[in-house]
Parts: sequence; C-alpha cells; structure tokens
Amino acid sequence: MAAKVGVGLLGLGTVGGGVASILQNPDERHPLVGELELIRVAVRDLNRPRPVALDASLLTTDPSAVIQDPAVDVVVEVIGGLEPARSLILQAIAAGKSVVTANKAVIARHGQEITEAAAAAGVYVLIEAAVGGGIPIIEPLKQSLGGNRINRVSGIINGTTNYILTRMAEEGAAYDAVLKDAQELGYAEADPAADVDGLDAADKIAILATLAFGGSVDRAAVPTEGISGLQGVDVDYANQLGYGVKLLAVAERMAVSGDPLPLSLRVQPTLVPMDHPLAGVNGVNNAILVEGDPIGRVMFYGPGAGAGPTASAVVADILNIAGIRQASDGPGKVDPLLAAGSWRPCALADSGDIRQRHYVRFKTKDAPGVIGNVGGCFGERNVSIQSIVQFNASDAGAEIVVITHEVSQRQMNEALEAIQALPEVSGLAAHLGCL
Ligand code: NDP
Ligand code: HSE
Repeated sequence: MAAKVGVGLLGLGTVGGGVASILQNPDERHPLVGELELIRVAVRDLNRPRPVALDASLLTTDPSAVIQDPAVDVVVEVIGGLEPARSLILQAIAAGKSVVTANKAVIARHGQEITEAAAAAGVYVLIEAAVGGGIPIIEPLKQSLGGNRINRVSGIINGTTNYILTRMAEEGAAYDAVLKDAQELGYAEADPAADVDGLDAADKIAILATLAFGGSVDRAAVPTEGISGLQGVDVDYANQLGYGVKLLAVAERMAVSGDPLPLSLRVQPTLVPMDHPLAGVNGVNNAILVEGDPIGRVMFYGPGAGAGPTASAVVADILNIAGIRQASDGPGKVDPLLAAGSWRPCALADSGDIRQRHYVRFKTKDAPGVIGNVGGCFGERNVSIQSIVQFNASDAGAEIVVITHEVSQRQMNEALEAIQALPEVSGLAAHLGCL
C-alpha cells in the first residue's frame, strides 16, 4: 500500500473548513484522497466554533509547528492576507515542503519570489484555488493549453461582485444588504473592499497573465476600478441598449510585439452584450474566456467562491503533489509544466495605447445641436460612434449616452476633454468599458 501523505493546514475558516471536510470524507472520491492525512491545523483562536468536527489535539495557534511537523508533507496556506502568509509559505519551502495556497493577494505580489524559492528547493507551490474558486483554470493554462499562443484572457473573476451585481439587477436588492449576504456565505474577502474595489480581480488577472504570457507583471500598475462607483442608472441605460454590466478583468497582447512583451491588463465595470457568453454568468459564478492560436476560444465556467468549490480546487492541488510524491518517493526535481516558472519578461503597455470600446454618459443642457456638437468632438479625434442616445430630457437638462467603436484610450481621453469643455455639457457622469 502507498504511504500516507501528511497535510498541514494553515487556517480553518471558509476554505480550510472545506478542505478538512473533504479529507475527513474520502468515500467515493479518487482513492488518493484516502491517502491524505490531516496532521495538524493552525488557527488564530482555539475557542472559535468550527464547521467541521476535528480532534482538538490537531489544533494549534503556532503555524510554524504545523510547517515543521515531520509528518507534514504538504502545507496548505488558507490564512489569507500578505503577512504572515508570505513568510509562512517561504518557511514551508525552506523546510522542503510543497505548498498549496488559495492566496491570490500573496501570489500576485510575491509570486516570483515564491516560485524561485520553490524551484531552488525542488518543491511545488500550487495555486489552483487562487483564481476562479472551483473552476480549473490554472492547470489548463499551465498544461492543457500549453501548445497555444495565448492572445487574450478575460472574464468575470470575482464571485462577490458578480453576486452583488446579479442580485441588484434581478431583485433590485440594496447594495449593502447583498454585500452582507455575500460575507455570510463566505464569498467575500476578510476586507470586502478588496472585492468591491476590484483589487481581488486585479490580483487574479495578474496571476492569469503571468501564466498565459509567460512572465510576471507589475501588479501595482494594473488599472483597476471596482463596482463601488457604479450607478444604477448606467445599469438601466445599458439594459435598454441591450447590454448587461459585469466587473470584467482583461489581459491581452498589444497589437505590436516587443521585448519585454507588452500587455494590456485592466479591471473595470464593462457593458457586455446580452448575447455574449459572459452576459449569462450570474450569481457567485465566474467565467474565464481564453483566446489562443490555434484553439480559438474556450470558456471555463463555474462557482467562483465559497467553501466547497474552493476546497475542491485546493484538494486537486494536494492530490497533484501527493501523486508526484508517491511516484518519486519524496521531493526532488520538479515537473516544469506543473511548477510553471516564468520564461520571458512581460511589461504593461502605456495605458494610452489600450484599445477597447467605451460607454460614456454626459449630463448636458437639453438644447438644439448638443448631440451634433458631442458627435463632432468625437469625429474630430477619429473616435467612431456606434450609438448616441439622449435620455431623460427635461427643463433640468438631459443625459447623452455614447457607445464608441474600438479606440485607443488616448483618443478617447482627448475627445472627452474636448466634450467637457463644451458650454452645453455640464459633466461626464459615467465612463465604463464595453465589449
Ligand atoms: P477565513 O477568514 O474564513 O479563514 C482564515 C483562517 O485563517 C481562519 O481559520 C483563521 O483562524 C486563520 N488565521 C488567520 N490568521 C492566522 C494566524 N496568524 N495564524 C493562524 N491562523 C490564522 O478566510 P477564507 O477561508 O475565506 O480565505 C482564505 C484564503 O483563501 C484567502 O487567501 C482567500 O483570498 C482565499 N480564497 C477564499 C475563497 C472564498 O470563497 N472564501 C475563494 C478562493 C480563495 P480563526 O478561524 O481562529 O480566526
Ligand atoms: N472574495 C473572492 C471572490 C473569493 O468573491 O471571488 C474567491 O477568490
């Protein structure tokens, strides 16, 4: 019989609890799950009630005791946040233990340091749960799609905000109440500002870009806008024009290549045509579209947060490591596809060069010629308009909504500056992306 593989858990919250629950109930799962043995578990508060029944002797408030336990072969970091998570991951690597983590914040910022330390120590750091919750997307990008030249990765990669946007659109539910529900369901980050301000999605798209394009990007430079500034009126107007609004994350190659490879990354509320596959992705579900040559377009869809789905991804990574350990009888040389180190430099392109469609809403006077003047400012800067519509005309003024064809951010900024200088335009009230 194969030797048991010892698992040490750092954290027993939403995700850690889900992992412990799978390890305690191996029946009808892959036989290797039965070979995983939960050795020790680090928590912050020993007296907190737990959703899983664990022998109290397994619990400790000292994460180092878990990492250094000789019976622990794989360390699972599901504490979250930057520190002590980063140091604990590095400590586990230094102790010759492979690591599984769901921590996108640490990987997006310290992924290179961690990957290099793991390569030097001959161990793995696997991160399937860090993006898309239960959706397998990390391993497909590392392995199954390795024969492709990836051009674009885009999608809905934050469950909390998609859950909020869906319930607000479908039920007219209040933002604060739905956010509270998302927290109670275990979807939100410890500080939910990370979700609603787009930071969690930016962490995730930085990780996906690194895997898709082969090199890490500067996480701090990813243009990021969340849903906290999104106004209901824009969701209404978008619906009337045939679009839904989603918090979209995008990573794509620029048209012109270079060294380092120039990439465009962004996170922003974006209009999605109702007949687009991403428009039907609702609730806590996520979806990631990968576009490559020669595969074309593939979409990965499923629950993007929550205990069960995320634990499913964590356990998949533990199984990968356990399988390799059992085949090779201990740590040694790592499989380059599974370890997935960087293989070329990448850099974020100048934001002025990013091309996309735009949705803008202006507050204007309801006067003859306004639409013509706004249209003229766009035309003079070579910004082609797909639609221009006036809403809510009254004595108090009107609102003009414009959807453009694909233009560079630079052209768009110049046109917006000119339009805001028109005497009949009182302000730019909203500016969103558009697919
Ligand atoms: P929780 O807040 O539910 O759990 C965190 C756990 O870590 C708790 O058990 C807490 O202990 C423990 N902990 C915190 N600090 C320490 C410390 N210094 N030493 C020991 N234990 C500590 O977080 P989640 O499970 O929701 O998230 C964990 C990670 O997974 C995060 O990186 C998150 O981004 C990621 N993730 C979460 C998903 C989700 O749906 N929730 C989905 C995908 C990824 P105690 O219980 O005693 O307070
Ligand atoms: N807070 C995250 C989300 C958890 O809502 O998507 C999953 O990474």
